[in-house]
Amino acid sequence: MFEVKSPLTYYPMTVGDYTLKHTKQKSSFGLFEKNAPWMGYNYDNHWQAREFYFELQLAKGVCITTGLGLGILQTNLCLNDDVSKVIVYEKSNDVVDIFHKTIEKNNFDISKIEIRIGDADSLANEKCDCLFPDHFDSEPEEHVVRVVKELSENNQAGVVWYWPAGVHLHKFLISKELEINNDSYEKWKKHTGITNLPNITDDSVFDYFKELKNIYQNDADAPGPKLEINYVEKTVERRKKLQGLYKK
Ligand SMILES: C[S@@+](CC[C@H](N)C(=O)[O-])C[C@H]1O[C@@H](n2cnc3c(N)ncnc32)[C@H](O)[C@@H]1O
Repeated sequence: MFEVKSPLTYYPMTVGDYTLKHTKQKSSFGLFEKNAPWMGYNYDNHWQAREFYFELQLAKGVCITTGLGLGILQTNLCLNDDVSKVIVYEKSNDVVDIFHKTIEKNNFDISKIEIRIGDADSLANEKCDCLFPDHFDSEPEEHVVRVVKELSENNQAGVVWYWPAGVHLHKFLISKELEINNDSYEKWKKHTGITNLPNITDDSVFDYFKELKNIYQNDADAPGPKLEINYVEKTVERRKKLQGLYKK
């Protein structure tokens, strides 16, 4: 239903400490830093691209992004006529080289993209229409939310959405035992303290959030988000069972 794909085909290559290669999992490509996986791309279900559906709905004008990785978000933004410029902060020259080599093989137009090598946590203050941070790994939620809040305030971003906001939203809903709807979404927004998270004006976005939860719980070969959500859910289930036991 919410289809997004990477417009790029990936090819095996190594640059410095980074390697792009097929993974053991069928139809999957992975970007590794010294053999530790950074991210992957699954050609069967494209879940890593579907994670960016909401950013692509919100995108317009100047978009500041952080973390280049496989460039899935950035190349999709290039294809969006409402987007005039895509700035990306990336810390690794090797990742940038791999991206440029991949772009060359795909003959893809990246004239809208400006790559800035640097630490995304302290990027230059600059007004932008959209801010899409995605340079986090498994840092604690409080850290991610604090950095996103600082970045979005410094950059006077019209709107901000970050990875893994979907995970944070679902964790919040699960812990409060809430269904996803405008009311619970607004509660989560208030809980983060990030004032320029978007208002939802189209209810189909809630169906997308439900699909995202499914991806994390069933499809994802990324252990981080999947385990995090299951962990909270299992804890709530266990707590309910225990409450039941004590009642007896
Ligand atoms: C998961 S990938 C980003 C994926 C990308 N959005 C895409 O669409 O393919 C994370 C990237 O963030 C970069 N990164 C990690 N920490 C960073 C930092 N502090 N500053 C800038 N880039 C960083 C990593 O080198 C990696 O390329």
